[in-house]
Amino acid sequence: MKNLRTLLVTGGCGFIGANFVRLLLKQYPEYRVINIDKLTYAGNLRNLDGIEEGERYRFVKADICDSETIERIFSEELVDTVVHFAAESHVDRSITGPAAFIQTNIIGTFTLLEAARKSWLTGDWKGAEPCFLHVSTDEVYGSLGETGLFSETTPFDPRSPYSASKASSDHLASAYFHTYGLPVRITNCSNNYGPYQFPEKLIPLIFNNSMKAKSLPVYGDGKNVRDWLFVLDHCEAILEVVRKGKNGECYNIGGNNEKQNIEVVTLICDIIDKKLGLPESGEPRRSLITFVKDRLGHDRRYAIDASKIKNQIGWQPKVQFAEGIEKTVDWYLANQQWVNEIVDGSYQDYYQKMYQ
Ligand code: NAD
Ligand code: DAU
Repeated sequence: MKNLRTLLVTGGCGFIGANFVRLLLKQYPEYRVINIDKLTYAGNLRNLDGIEEGERYRFVKADICDSETIERIFSEELVDTVVHFAAESHVDRSITGPAAFIQTNIIGTFTLLEAARKSWLTGDWKGAEPCFLHVSTDEVYGSLGETGLFSETTPFDPRSPYSASKASSDHLASAYFHTYGLPVRITNCSNNYGPYQFPEKLIPLIFNNSMKAKSLPVYGDGKNVRDWLFVLDHCEAILEVVRKGKNGECYNIGGNNEKQNIEVVTLICDIIDKKLGLPESGEPRRSLITFVKDRLGHDRRYAIDASKIKNQIGWQPKVQFAEGIEKTVDWYLANQQWVNEIVDGSYQDYYQKMYQ
């Protein structure tokens, strides 16, 4: 244990966090992982099925806004690396209920930065060279027109309560580097997809509804564009920034896979039709597509210029969208119980079953 790095993951029971914990424990034996997660509606212990607590993994159910608990974990565990995923992440929820986004995304990030500052910037810090990686989003840059890409120097222009709260946390993280010299790095990534994504997000929602012959809601004209990245590519990029990045720097991460929403939805329907045949109705699943009222303030287009991380760190995505979406549909087909437990709410019983 002495030679292991101690990496604190926040939000490790969510979509990207769980994929990251799995990757780390499987392929990077030099790390032990402390996973702090509040288990909000988006946190699911089933995402970490098969991972046992032990020398290399510990789970703590806690709120990142709880400074006492966070500071205790920093000092007890001698945390030397933080990868901070925990957030309220769904744009639609931020429109109907922004308060939780302000609390977790801003106050929670502040609480972690303070704990890291107190732990690492005192004279008696005894651990390895520290690093605080703040995981953020391309949504802080606002919305693009028909052309152009977001680069690390694009001015912030957040337009939803979610993106405004993430922009605020990015600024705080950056301020802790400039003011105190805290070893902060920031990543701003485009839309992720893949296993364990909560079925409120576009891709798993369309999968679930089309399997149950429910209508497939497409906002507005369906021509909004997102730049899709397979989740494991994102996880690898984050780890590369931890290992090879520079303090005080931001890195954009993207898949170079721009797609209109309607293309994505139609493709998922067609893949399922191909794999399972037509449903009982005899109609192709794409006939379930329904154009609905647009999201308020719906950003039109996101697209990332990821040349900095490619040139300075050597990372680039491995999975193209056609391959990744096929793998993703296969995963959801093989894990329909995982989806159904979320839909019926029973996934929330697992903490009690496992820990109490
Ligand atoms: P998610 O909603 O699937 O998971 C969030 C996790 O954080 C959940 O396990 C939840 O229980 C936990 N959490 C929430 N509030 C907490 C709190 N107060 N204390 C402790 N834990 C708390 O989110 P995700 O899609 O995995 O996103 C992870 C991070 O990556 C977020 O910071 C998000 O802004 C960022 N990001 C996401 C995407 C994407 O496409 N999903 C793209 C770029 C950046
Ligand atoms: O760009 C990165 C961001 O991507 C992350 O920071 C967010 O955490 C993550 O949720 C995601 O935000 P989006 O709003 O882009 O993702 P969502 O899956 O909610 O929507 C993708 C697109 O699909 C968006 O243009 C809205 C549209 N949409 C979404 C839903 C849920 C629909 O047309 N119908 C739907 O039912």
